[in-house]
Amino acid sequence: MGIISAKSIAWLSVLAACSITNGSNLPRPNNLDAFVKKQRAISLQNVLNNIGPDGSRVPGAAAGVIVASPSTVNPDYFYTWSRDAALTMKMIVDEFLLGDKRLQPYIEDFIHSQAVIQTVTNPSGTFFPNGAGLGEPKYNVDLTRYNGAWGRPQRDGPALRAIALITYSNWLLSNGQGKKAKTVVWPIISNDLSYVGQYWNSTGFDLWEEVQGSSFFTTQNQFRALVEGGVLAKRIGVQCTGCDQAAQVACFLNESYWNGEYFIANINSNDGRTGKDANTVLGSISVFDLNARCDDASIQPCNSRSLSNFKAFVDSFRDSTLYPINKGVPQAKGIALGRYTEDVYFTGNPWYLITAGAAEYLYDAAAQWKAQGSLTIDETSLAFFQDIYPVAQTKTYSSKGKYSELPRILKAVTNYAESFAEVVQKYTPTDGSLAEQFSKTSPFNPTSAIDLTWSYAAFVSMAERRAGQYSPSWIPAKGSVVVPQQCTSGSTKGVYSPATAAGAPDINATCTSNVRFEVNATTYYGENILVAGNTTDLGSWDFGNGWPLDASGYTGQRPLWAATIALTAGQTINYAYVRQEDCGQDPIWESATANRTLVIPPCDPDADPDAILIVTNDSWQGQTGSTGGC
Ligand SMILES: *[C@@H]1O[C@H](CO)[C@@H](O)[C@H](O)[C@H]1NC(C)=O
Ligand SMILES: *[C@@H]1O[C@H](CO)[C@@H](O)[C@H](O)[C@H]1NC(C)=O
Ligand SMILES: *[C@@H]1O[C@H](CO)[C@@H](O)[C@H](O)[C@H]1NC(C)=O
Ligand SMILES: *[C@@H]1O[C@H](CO)[C@@H](O)[C@H](O)[C@H]1NC(C)=O
Ligand SMILES: *[C@@H]1O[C@H](CO)[C@@H](O)[C@H](O)[C@H]1NC(C)=O
Ligand SMILES: *[C@@H]1O[C@H](CO)[C@@H](O)[C@H](O)[C@H]1NC(C)=O
Ligand SMILES: *[C@@H]1O[C@H](CO)[C@@H](O)[C@H](O)[C@H]1NC(C)=O
Repeated sequence: MGIISAKSIAWLSVLAACSITNGSNLPRPNNLDAFVKKQRAISLQNVLNNIGPDGSRVPGAAAGVIVASPSTVNPDYFYTWSRDAALTMKMIVDEFLLGDKRLQPYIEDFIHSQAVIQTVTNPSGTFFPNGAGLGEPKYNVDLTRYNGAWGRPQRDGPALRAIALITYSNWLLSNGQGKKAKTVVWPIISNDLSYVGQYWNSTGFDLWEEVQGSSFFTTQNQFRALVEGGVLAKRIGVQCTGCDQAAQVACFLNESYWNGEYFIANINSNDGRTGKDANTVLGSISVFDLNARCDDASIQPCNSRSLSNFKAFVDSFRDSTLYPINKGVPQAKGIALGRYTEDVYFTGNPWYLITAGAAEYLYDAAAQWKAQGSLTIDETSLAFFQDIYPVAQTKTYSSKGKYSELPRILKAVTNYAESFAEVVQKYTPTDGSLAEQFSKTSPFNPTSAIDLTWSYAAFVSMAERRAGQYSPSWIPAKGSVVVPQQCTSGSTKGVYSPATAAGAPDINATCTSNVRFEVNATTYYGENILVAGNTTDLGSWDFGNGWPLDASGYTGQRPLWAATIALTAGQTINYAYVRQEDCGQDPIWESATANRTLVIPPCDPDADPDAILIVTNDSWQGQTGSTGGC
């Protein structure tokens, strides 16, 4: 969730002034056990309230569609995001495995909705021939494409969806329903793993939808998906296209993000930030496996570098000039946490899901050391431990022996986890509603989207770990992979096929040719350019269905807006460009004389499906826009 594009920051920060006021009467923390028990049930119910078709807060959402929030204005989150939905579904599958049988229909509906969504043509691309459409971050709640300008593609969605569905498939297999796992669910997973194997080494937008580059969270989840996808494929006797990339993804994860103190959240980008970001903590809880080794390639919560990273990230929010809410909290205690310190979205406040995520992270790490019966502190992790256990030394602490210190260290880690959970408790309104954020300044009221599905899902998974409840292991006993000595770039061409047994429409690959639309159009900050035309892919002259162009190549020398679109080969189209204004003013179309004609070249089924067959060389004709001053 977050900013629609860097260009829109100014617009959104205006909204930041408006905050929700239902957070008065904050309860004082007491009895964390009772709070967590009650809030876990409230949170799960509130997740279900945001799922179609029967969710009480999301009328109009199709079956299995997990809506990000019922909020339709300031901000409008009434969409389904692939990432939020998949993370939420993972929690639902885990709760189902823990015995909540009434959740199974939600899982089944989700499977159906995702089979359909995979085939929807959208501004990230089409399903055929190269799966590019799977990278679309969000859709309308009726499963149609969302056409507005956005930070796209985002490459974590397919990986996270695969992870949730693999967990469920493993349960099906262990419960006599292997055929269903293979014929109904696997085809969806297979498309997603194809996408991951093909695009892991391409840039995309991060989980906060702001930075184009390579994102630690995305890479880490891609790695998990490929490893456990490969194991599942073997179990059901099918090929996994893309899973062969796992070792190179691990190498990239291990080598490229670490700076000696923490994992830089976004690389292959120039975002001008320190790189300390909740991204790197949320990634590790999403790949957590109780039985993993701390040096596993997946970078587990108990990994030394991950612990150093955790400290660096958390400490960045201890500055009380930045976060008055954390004033006076001692070093060994949990604090309210936001996404990253440079954040300006809704003025950059703490998030419930991140603060709960920090607690979950620490419960995870403590559980791993407990399971292993030992804990090794090294130079890298020492500072993390000294904050909460001042006499910590670089050595291996074992549970053996009468005077073992290990229980004391684990107690310190657990207390630290509890102190983050207490922060969530302190700022949760009495009715248990969880918005996206709570204000960093007094009176610390909830703000941004109300009833954020991901906030609730994060609370439930934190509560599971606190209760000693874990998702099944996904890492094979011998470790996830052996990381190669030398990292190389890579991509395996994916195989995409609609998951018809799960309800995907029986679409077949049409012969398409890639057209690159390029137009020189000088725009002001906040303005966007779309291309519209007389075919359905180009919105049939409907501005709201036009295809948003991307300004990443825009420079002082060349005001370039561009997009590559796969269009049915052989046809003749009419098209024109249109300006989307910053404050919702009427769109500005090019002058009628600019109504252009283009013949889409015939396709060559043997050619590279990504080859661009024609590039337009257009220049905006007509009126320019001016800011609305909103
Ligand atoms: C691709 O992989 C190589 C090798 O790990 C790495 O150096 C490079 O940064 C990666 N690029 C992207 C965009 O993932
Ligand atoms: C990751 O890289 C570090 C430093 O280059 C190396 O010491 C470590 O063994 C690598 N981890 C794995 C799992 O290979
Ligand atoms: C797609 O192809 C399959 C196999 O050739 C065929 O059975 C099916 O009818 C086709 N679907 C459409 C919508 O053309
Ligand atoms: C779009 O316009 C072109 C050129 O006028 C025409 O040949 C084509 O049939 C039109 N396509 C549709 C779908 O109307
Ligand atoms: C372009 O021309 C077609 C056919 O002449 C017409 O239907 C369409 O409305 C025109 N579009 C614009 C934006 O002028
Ligand atoms: C693009 O169009 C401009 C203006 O008509 C022309 O000067 C230029 O040569 C064209 N470039 C290409 C690559 O066709
Ligand atoms: C667009 O700008 C580029 C760079 O200035 C120029 O080479 C190209 O000819 C321009 N295209 C048109 C159609 O004017």
